[in-house]
Amino acid sequence: MNRLRLGVNIDHVATLRNARGGAYPDPLRAALLAEAAGADGITAHLREDRRHIRDADITALMNGLTRPLNFEMAATAEMQAIALRHRPHAVCIVPERREERTTEGGLDVAGDIARLADFIAPLREADCRVSMFIGHDPRQIEASAEIGAAVVELHTGAYCDLHAEGQFAERDAELEGLRQGAALADSLGLEVHAGHGLNFETVGPLAAIPEVRELNIGHFLIGEAVFIGLGPAIAEMRRLMEAARA
Ligand code: PXP
Repeated sequence: MNRLRLGVNIDHVATLRNARGGAYPDPLRAALLAEAAGADGITAHLREDRRHIRDADITALMNGLTRPLNFEMAATAEMQAIALRHRPHAVCIVPERREERTTEGGLDVAGDIARLADFIAPLREADCRVSMFIGHDPRQIEASAEIGAAVVELHTGAYCDLHAEGQFAERDAELEGLRQGAALADSLGLEVHAGHGLNFETVGPLAAIPEVRELNIGHFLIGEAVFIGLGPAIAEMRRLMEAARA
């Protein structure tokens, strides 16, 4: 089976830093530690309100990382200009609402197809691998292929929430939707990623989907770092991913 990559999202190191308004803890330091512990790439989301990652963090990550940066952003002119200035390895387009606590749902690519096609064209020309963060609805997957995205990242938040709430039949139905979505996306030539809300309990079934090539995981790993350290948390996540893959 294809090797499964782990992207570590370091947004919440910045959340902790911003809680005190200073420079500690430094997201770049966490990212370098994540790389040393087995992360294949680093993910960071520059939100419109700069609630965690800030512009200077993106500059520091671009200059300091040894592995690829996956730059998450909303489809706005401001973010497009920032991405074109930095030219990260990957750009993941996510929906963003100011009042939400985190990225709550997938992007409506099918409902905004012409604008999103125009929006990603310069990013593709700049050699960024463009990814659309979507649910597993076939319409969204087909629309992502139609606009020329290279990657879809399937939103695993509902699957993780249903697991946490003990709604196992609904969780399994959601997982089946993710499996079918991954197969459809792969058949259309899209690379398949997945993420949101994954933890040690929920990662296995996602890692076992053969078409999934990358998982992006943040909040749980940064939380677990409080208890066991960031390096051991990443090493354990990698171990679970590889066990499920085997
Ligand atoms: N993938 C995408 C596109 C995201 O927006 C996020 C959250 O920023 C994640 C993965 C990681 O989610 P979590 O922090 O819940 O692991």
